[in-house]
Amino acid sequence: MITVRIASADEYARVGELTVAAYRALAVDHLFGGYDQRILDTATRAREADVLVAVLDGRVVGAVTYVGDSSSEWSEWTEPGEAQFRLLAVDPAAHGQGAGAALVRTCMERAAAAGSTIVIHTTPWMKIAQAMYERFGFVRRPDRDVQYEVWKEDEDLDLAAEWAGRAFLAYSWSATD
Ligand SMILES: CC(C)(COP(=O)(O)OP(=O)(O)OC[C@H]1O[C@@H](n2cnc3c(N)ncnc32)[C@H](O)[C@@H]1OP(=O)(O)O)[C@@H](O)C(=O)NCCC(=O)NCCS
Repeated sequence: MITVRIASADEYARVGELTVAAYRALAVDHLFGGYDQRILDTATRAREADVLVAVLDGRVVGAVTYVGDSSSEWSEWTEPGEAQFRLLAVDPAAHGQGAGAALVRTCMERAAAAGSTIVIHTTPWMKIAQAMYERFGFVRRPDRDVQYEVWKEDEDLDLAAEWAGRAFLAYSWSATD
């Protein structure tokens, strides 16, 4: 059985490691520009947002960062009043057992309780996540996509060639839609 709850401090290292492992398993490098170090700093993230974990048979197998307040340091490309979740990740060894869906469902329950719309951004290589979001009723929001020229402000980023011209793809969900 899977339970979802706030991560405790002694789980922060595990959260960081499984999140980096899940992102590293994507087809194209997502950890450029020091993102891996930022992900591993779960303690800072937990001060600025809610780090949730999915626990399966007593083991932390997945995590997500729920950002309920758009003024949080961890809120990105949102507008006032919108909620967001970021860094949804499940340990590659535990994929396909419902942890990812349980984490998304918890974020949806939180947003519904607050009366917030969730806005999230994905990348072209997150097909499994996108299919799951669509099954949950998230809708594509091309109007909220973040174009390459906009997100790649830092000219020195060491990006894989596949990123050239690629936008971050937005989805949104609201309990009242
Ligand atoms: C997206 C992710 C979190 C899903 O985690 P998970 O625990 O495997 O997901 P679940 O077991 O809850 O499965 C969710 C759905 O995805 C499907 N799925 C899971 N793994 C799959 C795979 N390898 N291929 C195809 N479908 C898959 C499941 O069948 C399920 O579909 P259903 O809703 O019809 O039952 C995980 O694949 C991951 O960590 N991906 C890398 C990080 C990422 O892309 N994050 C998204 C950030 S926006």
